[in-house]
Amino acid sequence: MNVQKIALNGFRNYEWETTEFSPGTNVICGPNAQGKTNLLEAVYMLSCGRSFRTRFDKELVGFGFSEGEILAEVWSHERQQTVDLRFRVGQPKRITVNGVKKTAGELAAVVNTVLFCPDDLNLIKEGAAVRRRLMDNAISQIRPRYAEILTEFNRLYEHKTRILKDWREKPSLLETLDEFSDGMARASAQLIRYRAAYAARLNQTAPPIHREFSGKGEELSLRYQTVSTVRDPYASAKEIYYDICDHQERHRQAELESAQCLTGAHKDDLEIEINGRSARSFASQGQTRTAALSLKLAEREILQAESGEMPILLLDDVLSELDQKRQEFVLNRIGGGQTLITCCEDAEISRRTGGKVLLVEKGKIR
Ligand SMILES: Nc1ncnc2c1ncn2[C@@H]1O[C@H](COP(=O)(O)OP(=O)(O)OP(=O)(O)O)[C@@H](O)[C@H]1O
Ligand SMILES: [Mg+2]
Repeated sequence: MNVQKIALNGFRNYEWETTEFSPGTNVICGPNAQGKTNLLEAVYMLSCGRSFRTRFDKELVGFGFSEGEILAEVWSHERQQTVDLRFRVGQPKRITVNGVKKTAGELAAVVNTVLFCPDDLNLIKEGAAVRRRLMDNAISQIRPRYAEILTEFNRLYEHKTRILKDWREKPSLLETLDEFSDGMARASAQLIRYRAAYAARLNQTAPPIHREFSGKGEELSLRYQTVSTVRDPYASAKEIYYDICDHQERHRQAELESAQCLTGAHKDDLEIEINGRSARSFASQGQTRTAALSLKLAEREILQAESGEMPILLLDDVLSELDQKRQEFVLNRIGGGQTLITCCEDAEISRRTGGKVLLVEKGKIR
C-alpha cells in the first residue's frame, strides 16, 4: 500500500498544499520548524484518525482556520481509494473513505502505518505505558475489534478512577463502583488475550532481526506481563475474567484507600530481555536503541503478514539519532514498501536511499 497524493488544507502550518509521493522511499527534508513532522503526522492520521502528538483535534487546525482537512489518494488492496479527514473546532471529526462515512477505527482496513520517532528510541527504558502503546497501536491496526474494546476499557477506567477519587465527598458514588470494576474485568480479559497473542508473535519476529542487527548474536526476548492472578493469558476470556475478579476482590479495599484502579489491563507491560537480563535495568544505550528498532521493524513484518500489504513506514528524525552502522541497517531494511523519512540534511540521505526528495519550507513542499 502507499499514499500517492496528499492535499493539506488548513492542517497545521499547511494552508493549501498538495504533494505526490513515490511508492518507494521519500526523503522529507528542510530546516527546523518548517512542517516535516506535520506532513508525517498527516499520513499517520490516515491510518487511525488521530495524531501521535496530540489528543486534541483542534490543535491540528491551522492558525486562523475554522476547519482543517487531510485529503489523500491511496493505493491499497489493489485499488485506488480516497481518504478524507476533516476537523472543525468544537465538532467531532468527519472521516470518509471513497465518499462513505467511516469511524477512525475503520481506517485501519485501508491504511496501515508503522511510525518510528526519537521518543521510540527510549521504548525500552521508559515506563510501561509506552510499551502498552506499542502493542495497542499494532493490534488496533490488525484487529478492529481490539480498538473498540480498548476505547470502552479506557472509558470505564476513567469513570472508575473518578469514583475512587470522589467517593469520600459523595458516598453515593460507591453504588456503581462494582459495576465499573466488573466492566473493566470483562474488557481486560479480552484485551489480555489479544496482547498475549501479539507479544508471542513479536517474540518470534523481533529476535531474528535483533540478532542480525546487533551483529553479535545478541538474544532478544519478550514476555508479556499482566494481572498477577491471570494463570494463562491464552485461556478463554471467561477463565481470564474469573482470574481478574479474584484479583479485584482482594484489592477492593486498597483501591478505595489509594484512590487508584489496581486491577486491570492498564498495568500490563512487555518485559524485554537481552541475553536473559532485563533490558530496562541492564542494557546499554546502544543495546536499547537496537532493540527498539528491532521491535518496530518486527511490527512492520507482522502487519504485512496479517494484511497482505506492506504498511507505510514513517521515520521521523531518527536517522540523525543513530550511528552509521544502525543507519545502514535501517536503510537496507526499508525496501519493499513505501517509506517517508524526515531529516534536516537532504543530500546525504537521499543519495544513500536513492529516494524522492521533498523539500519543506514554511508549510510549502517542493
Ligand atoms: N495548528 C497549527 N497551525 C499553524 N501552525 C502550526 C500548528 N501546529 C503547529 N504549527 C507549526 O508548524 C511548524 C512546523 O512544525 P513541524 O513539527 O512539522 O516542524 P519540523 O519541520 O518537523 O521541524 P523539526 O526539524 O524541528 O522537527 C511549527 O513552527 C509550529 O509552530
Ligand atoms: Mg520534526
